Amino acid sequence: MSIYDVEKKYIFQTYKRRKLALIKGKGKFVWDNKNRKYLDFFSGITVCNLGHCHPKVVEAIKKQASKLIHVSNHYYTQPQTELAKNLIHKSFSGKVFFSNSGAEANECAIKIARKWGKPKGRYEIIVFDNSFHGRTLATLAATGQKKLHKGFEPLVPGFKYARFNDIKSVKKLINKKTAAIMIEPIQGEGGVNLAAKKFLRDLRKICNKHNLLLIFDEIQTGIGRTGRLFGYQTYGVKPDVITLAKSLGSGLPIGATIADRKYISAFVYGDHGSTFGGSLVPCAASNAILKVLTPGFLAKVRQNGGYFLSKLKELKSKYPFIREVRGMGLMVGVELDFKGADIVQSCQGKGLIINCTQEKVLRFLPPLIINRKDIDKAIRIFDSVLRKYK
Ligand SMILES: Cc1ncc(COP(=O)(O)O)c(C=O)c1O
Repeated sequence: MSIYDVEKKYIFQTYKRRKLALIKGKGKFVWDNKNRKYLDFFSGITVCNLGHCHPKVVEAIKKQASKLIHVSNHYYTQPQTELAKNLIHKSFSGKVFFSNSGAEANECAIKIARKWGKPKGRYEIIVFDNSFHGRTLATLAATGQKKLHKGFEPLVPGFKYARFNDIKSVKKLINKKTAAIMIEPIQGEGGVNLAAKKFLRDLRKICNKHNLLLIFDEIQTGIGRTGRLFGYQTYGVKPDVITLAKSLGSGLPIGATIADRKYISAFVYGDHGSTFGGSLVPCAASNAILKVLTPGFLAKVRQNGGYFLSKLKELKSKYPFIREVRGMGLMVGVELDFKGADIVQSCQGKGLIINCTQEKVLRFLPPLIINRKDIDKAIRIFDSVLRKYK
């Protein structure tokens, strides 16, 4: 039986997988089971921000795995406390809760908002159309995409849906039960939709005025993707809570919820927990990752991001079916007039891995270690594929 048949027979068919079995990765490249090499401009949906098997990350994992792999959160561990200290020193004054995934990091943020709002009778959270916050029941309800809700109703109550970049729609939803506003600074799964700076600033003002928590889901925008360590730093708008996962572990499962010190009293002993959350090996990997993401490294991400966008915009002027090119740092979307699945397939055939979301938005999430030559190569392949559609 081929790997495709085994998958079909034994695994729930919840993913529409590309017919590609990957077996090896190094830096910006992955190899399939026929030893074909691909330039990976998807990075496992912005998980492998440092590329595949970064030597510093591999070394940290090996070192920790040979020393101690797991102890319960009933005890103290050095990698976890070091990571918490690192994250707080690099973000804002507060505390961290560690989990294993993005959905869990968001669940934790939702619980903080609810617990903090409880004495005042507040529990509603304003979220946004086209958002994506996870697949657990609460994060699914927080996700503003009806197609994903279908079949799982009744949804967890308390989520109100506003329109992205529309401050009036937010204001309309605020009432005495509102506890928080939760938003991705750039919607990833929703189509690489960038929040306007003014919009995020206005959200901050509204939260200050009504005493609401501002939660940024930075599961895609965090860990250098936008050219600063956290997306909120690129926007210059400080949230009260940020959630991280994906590239925080470079492929090992870890999630983190960072809350400003004003809100840390919301959680007391027994309010939240996780068996694996903040486990030693993922934390050791994360500490290694944070060491690589120096200000100089991030400056290069911004430069390369600007270069990549400019090259894609050149293609836009060449191909009228490109509706828009948008992005920040190395989180980039190219919206088409038509469905992009075939283009993804053709790029794959020519050795370039990209993705398509919301049917018409080609999504580029290259590893942050790429250089101009890699960008030029990706553009050359992309251009040669687009030519067929002219
Ligand atoms: C913005 C955002 N939030 C949350 C999640 C959920 O993360 P996970 O799949 O690790 O639960 C994702 C996953 O794509 C995401 O992009």
